[in-house]
Amino acid sequence: MTKRIVSGIQPTGNLHLGNYLGAIRNWVRMQEEGECFFFLADLHALSSFIEPQTLADGVREMAAALIASGVDPERATLFRQSQVTAHAEMQWLLNGTARVGWLNRMTQFKDKSGKNREGASVALYTYPVLQAADVLVYQATHVPVGEDQKQHLELARDIATKFNTDYGVDLFTLPEATIPPAAARIMSLRDGQSKMSKSDPSDMSRINLSDDADMVAQKVRKAKTDPEPLPEDPAALEGRPEARNLVSIYAALADETPAAVLARHAGQGFGTFKPALADLVVESLRPLTARLLELRADPAELDRLLAIGATRAREVAAPTLAAAYCAVGLG
Ligand code: TRP
Repeated sequence: MTKRIVSGIQPTGNLHLGNYLGAIRNWVRMQEEGECFFFLADLHALSSFIEPQTLADGVREMAAALIASGVDPERATLFRQSQVTAHAEMQWLLNGTARVGWLNRMTQFKDKSGKNREGASVALYTYPVLQAADVLVYQATHVPVGEDQKQHLELARDIATKFNTDYGVDLFTLPEATIPPAAARIMSLRDGQSKMSKSDPSDMSRINLSDDADMVAQKVRKAKTDPEPLPEDPAALEGRPEARNLVSIYAALADETPAAVLARHAGQGFGTFKPALADLVVESLRPLTARLLELRADPAELDRLLAIGATRAREVAAPTLAAAYCAVGLG
């Protein structure tokens, strides 16, 4: 059976090096492994208030960044979630199956709503049910996600199983989460203990795919480090999270192990290692940034590509959605 790979990303803000090395490069590689459906989760973006213009701009920006990174609209089906109404329809059908007790256990809802649970949107609460609909409506077999989304995928499997059982059908495929290697966990340049993130108030904490060479060099130069030289053994980076992060970034971009990177750079201080890393980041991102700027300048082309993706996604989702309506008695 060929793999059916489905994943989404929220179209809020710029893509940074952490998204690229952690998630997007993995999507690009998965295009070789099966039939891919990648979408901008713009309905999910409504779970916290976002200015309409910010959302509209974010959708195009993220689409441009994905394509520039190597997501190929000719090979993968790339689209906006909101343009395929099957997602929202399927979510409603699954709302009948998902249990309040299950959603109450979702750690992302607890983290994001925090002390203000009563003030959180209903969309934030039912977010995982929409995510289940996203993958089940395509009969996904594999879902590439970060560690933090594993629980949502388990919920999707629980919903699929209960739906199949309650209605006595064999409709939904149980999707499997594929988590990329831990090496791809890129941390903030200002704090080696927290993930590189678009919500960090300091822009110096991350490298954006749209940063120019001078900006990248400056961010790498100013990255937090320690005064020790690089060791020979990766195990000696334990307890030096900032040093370890810079070595991880180097290794991920060079497609090498941290041990191989250290074999060449052991004994160097950061005064020597940082310029080498800056050069590597700049060279690796150069083609990507160039393509990103081109695509940004052509929103009509982006909209055209996304419309083609949506048409294809609708076709593939339609039979499963129709079967789900039938199963519940709304055929
Ligand atoms: N919740 C995911 C995230 O924040 C994004 C997402 C939405 C998603 N729908 C999905 C991921 C379906 C995988 C499959 O990263």
